[in-house]
Amino acid sequence: MSQRVRKAVFPVAGLGTRFLPATKASPKEMLPVVDKPIIQYAVEEAMAAGMTELIFITGRTKRAIEDHFDRAVELETTLEARGKNEELEELKALIPDEVSCVYIRQAEPRGLGHAVLCAKAAVGDEPFAVLLPDDLIDDGNRGCLAQMTATFEADPASLVAVETVPKEDTDKYGIVSTRNGDGRAVAMTGILEKPAPAKAPSTLAVVGRYILTPGIFAELEATGLGAGGEIQLTDAIARLLEKETVKAFRFEGRRYDCGNKLGFLEATVALGLKHPEIGDEFRALLATFRD
Ligand code: G1P
Repeated sequence: MSQRVRKAVFPVAGLGTRFLPATKASPKEMLPVVDKPIIQYAVEEAMAAGMTELIFITGRTKRAIEDHFDRAVELETTLEARGKNEELEELKALIPDEVSCVYIRQAEPRGLGHAVLCAKAAVGDEPFAVLLPDDLIDDGNRGCLAQMTATFEADPASLVAVETVPKEDTDKYGIVSTRNGDGRAVAMTGILEKPAPAKAPSTLAVVGRYILTPGIFAELEATGLGAGGEIQLTDAIARLLEKETVKAFRFEGRRYDCGNKLGFLEATVALGLKHPEIGDEFRALLATFRD
């Protein structure tokens, strides 16, 4: 097995019901946080970590994602004719030539585990990353996935990003238990999908960044329906860790949960305040909203 991680899987077939009616006809991954769609933050993080093949697991109503990462020749020609060079360069830099995109349709909404299994042929026999775009992570540096690939390359075992959450929120996440250890990456001893607070083994929650060995595919194939009647990636990871080391990885940086309205607004405010063009004015504007 190669030790370099080059392929990233983006499960983007979800319906986005929490953002209806905004997501009735367009994908939730295309909602902009300041001036970029949510999915672009995850794609930029993957490229900053050296990924050269981006595998999107899409569904109906997700065409806009393909269009976003494709060349837009007419638009480029128009920008060129109008001398709008900055915008033109920005568009061209979206996906550099050395990076390729693959789109695979997940025909039925059978869960995150099923979505990852759809990438099996495209991934082949090598380690790969999974990024859930709802989790927008800002580490003020090269990104969470780059932290993980560096750890993986030093010691190639599967990694699952984690952070501590309030006890009452365990039923929103995969929850892991680990060996004792205070390093960034600690071997996991168990993982459960969305346990009720009373049944949660810890408050260490899975955040949407994974590096997985290809052994996960056999486990996904053997995994039955789990929480919510879906094939859960968490359940396949629980099987994998019976056979291989899987580590929980405490990343540096702040995560925003763009899968719900409040988290989405939090990301918008945080990134708006840091934005080079409008940050200062936005700060002054926000101050006018104080009670
Ligand atoms: C998924 C995973 C869950 C993980 C979460 C992170 O859940 O199934 O284990 O903690 O992403 O965002 P979802 O948010 O898709 O329900």
